[in-house]
Amino acid sequence: MESSPDKRKLSNLSIDSIYLAPSILAADFANLTQDIISAENTSIDMFHIDIMDGHFVPNLSIGPGVVQSIRPISNLPFDVHLMLDNPLNFVKPFADAGANNITFHYESNDSIIETIDVIKKTGCSVGISLKPDTEENEILPYLDLVDLVLVMTVEPGFGGQKFRYDMIRKIKMIRNHIREKNLNVHLQVDGGIDIKTGKQVIDAGSNILVAGTSLFKNESGLKNAALEFEKLMISYSKTII
Ligand code: DX5
Ligand code: ZN
Repeated sequence: MESSPDKRKLSNLSIDSIYLAPSILAADFANLTQDIISAENTSIDMFHIDIMDGHFVPNLSIGPGVVQSIRPISNLPFDVHLMLDNPLNFVKPFADAGANNITFHYESNDSIIETIDVIKKTGCSVGISLKPDTEENEILPYLDLVDLVLVMTVEPGFGGQKFRYDMIRKIKMIRNHIREKNLNVHLQVDGGIDIKTGKQVIDAGSNILVAGTSLFKNESGLKNAALEFEKLMISYSKTII
């Protein structure tokens, strides 16, 4: 059944549940439709779509045209991660292409307040992301303005990197802040997430796991890999305390 765009907004998903967001950067771009359909037939909750400009990160990925082409294939939320020097230039194109959540980087060149405002005006939910070397204190002032905070557990730009265990402390600090201020904000983690690191980041307080390589490039296949994540997530009570 076609879910309404509103149903796909992350701000309408409970922050007390845990979600799995495959990063299509790790999918087979020669068979993207098939990979999306296969993933949608597992227990995943949304698709994480990495957008790179070759400046903010030393890599290029896809544009609004690809998002528009794959939008009709999936009923799930499209969680678009803008790794761009100037995210303001691409908020509307990705919202028009079918994004439901748009996350931009604290470290980008555009005004944070203006970028949050422009994303909100499109009707998408808003995320702010911080690179591993950005301290959590930098983004705390914005957390009451956004729906999601994305903690990068790798240097953004490429899939398949090693998880950075030094980010666990940051996840815990941000979770404590969300709890203390009673904020309605998702805590998403991205980079090097597999079953082992996935357990550690959930224990540290994250509730949306982005996984690319450990899903799409798993030797046991996408279906089995998604099943392992499902078992991990079911093993947690629905409420993150
Ligand atoms: C990296 C991207 C991540 C990446 C995750 O810049 O933001 O979403 O694709 O990939 P894995 O799960 O392979 O580390
Ligand atoms: Zn990402």
